[in-house]
Amino acid sequence: MFRVTAEAAQGTVAFDIEGDRKLVLGLEDNGVDILHRCGGNAKCTTCRVEILAGDPGEIGEVEKAILATKTDLNDHTRLSCQVRVMDDLHVKVIRQASVEGMDAGGRPTE
Ligand code: FES
Repeated sequence: MFRVTAEAAQGTVAFDIEGDRKLVLGLEDNGVDILHRCGGNAKCTTCRVEILAGDPGEIGEVEKAILATKTDLNDHTRLSCQVRVMDDLHVKVIRQASVEGMDAGGRPTE
């Protein structure tokens, strides 16, 4: 089990998550309505988070390629649909359904 602390629109949300589980699902299951518009396929980047502390693991080629197309991100940005939790993490959630007034998107698979 790892501990995730997320800075979200509603404030700080903290929860435990099983190792190797997708970060996006942990966030959603603990009340953070993070966007995941492409359903967890590393295409939309709406599930992005800023990693404030902890090791999110190696970035894959597909994730790296889509993030490289965005100019408004920093080096600590990761796609929460591609991060499988393997460390305690402190993250900042960038985009939420309730803030943007849009549907979150299809739920990513486990
Ligand atoms: S990139 Fe679309 S849900 Fe993660």
